[in-house]
Amino acid sequence: MRIYKVGGAVRDRLLGKPVTDIDWVVVGATTEEMLAKGFRPVGLDFPVFLHPKSGEEYALARTERKSGRGYGGFTFHASPEVTLEEDLIRRDLTINAMAEDDQQNLTDPYHGQRDLEARLLRHVSPAFAEDPLRVLRVARFAARYAALGFTVAPKTLELMRQLSESGELQALTAERSWKEISRALMEDQPQVFIEVLRACGALKELMPEVDALFGVPQPQAHHPEIDTGAHTLSVLEQAARHKQPLTVRWACLLHDLGKGLTPEEEWPRHIAHEFKGLKLIKAVNERFKAPKDCQELALLVGEYHTHSHRALELKPSTLLELLQSFDVYRRPQRFEEFIAACEMDARGRKGLEQRSYPQADYLRGAATAARSVAVQPLLEKGFKGPELGEAIKRERLKALKAYKETASF
Ligand code: CTP
Repeated sequence: MRIYKVGGAVRDRLLGKPVTDIDWVVVGATTEEMLAKGFRPVGLDFPVFLHPKSGEEYALARTERKSGRGYGGFTFHASPEVTLEEDLIRRDLTINAMAEDDQQNLTDPYHGQRDLEARLLRHVSPAFAEDPLRVLRVARFAARYAALGFTVAPKTLELMRQLSESGELQALTAERSWKEISRALMEDQPQVFIEVLRACGALKELMPEVDALFGVPQPQAHHPEIDTGAHTLSVLEQAARHKQPLTVRWACLLHDLGKGLTPEEEWPRHIAHEFKGLKLIKAVNERFKAPKDCQELALLVGEYHTHSHRALELKPSTLLELLQSFDVYRRPQRFEEFIAACEMDARGRKGLEQRSYPQADYLRGAATAARSVAVQPLLEKGFKGPELGEAIKRERLKALKAYKETASF
């Protein structure tokens, strides 16, 4: 049996990037031999094992044939006769299809090293099409390595287009797609992920609600970039630049979906887009089974981002409603993330990237004022049940009125 390091570990070492997890391929072995050596099988019919000590993944060299739609439809053919080259040819990208033995001797039959130097994301062979998830993977790698100058090879983009048009992306499970989407959003240039998906027609398949934003104009006074799709990409770019967490990045991507529903005759205005967009945000959230905190924040940012931009003009009663909607008393972190997403929205506009956003501190101050209302004195006055709730609200409103009068913004 011969064991090689493969995939990301080889690629990232050659790129001079830190290697986090290592995948191994085992040539010339059977399942029985692996079990006898103490490796633990990952799944019943899946020729992947975990090392008894390191826990790293060891896969038997395999070829894959497709028997149906989607991931569940794969059949694996793993046997001791499968060669390293046969295994590598069915991998996604040439830069991921290199192997290294324990002496760091490189096996690179599909010229991954050449493509690393040429900064090209290129598929290895037509077997790329065996797994439609690779469309998302390539877009994710494009986002990750954009700063290094990587682009998708034109023929690979064409193959991604064919895969997208074939409808195969619809067969991907929510879990697999979300894993790629969430990882891509956390890259340094997440906007490139969306751009690449759009360029190959996958965005229309996966998130038609986001795709629909391209070509929709907004008023130039507030949006010098005009196009809503371009704005969304800039907001995402700002979110990455400011190292925002996944919840904020997801909310940034979806905050303006309602603008895609505006009838053309109303352009470039988008009356009530915040509210109209909610059903679209909900649909995208559910399609990918996004985690609850991402879902919630996206809906709240969608509904209230304009409130944040207009924070300094809001009446105390509207401010109070906003704070109540966020349950800012028990969920201060979520309110902070809301403010962050709105700030990214304000900065994701052409030429306005450096603008200040006093609304952020103003809203924080309002939250502090409302939160400072003590419940104990109201209890002592004998308030109970719904009346207590009303009394707390009245006191909070008073606190917000005083805040609005005294805050110097
Ligand atoms: N692979 C593939 N097709 C997929 C998933 C994985 O061909 N749909 C192959 C690639 O050769 C890849 C390797 O399996 O390099 C390991 O996959 P994975 O650990 O998911 O990705 P990495 O390439 O290691 O990248 P990352 O740094 O994103 O983890």
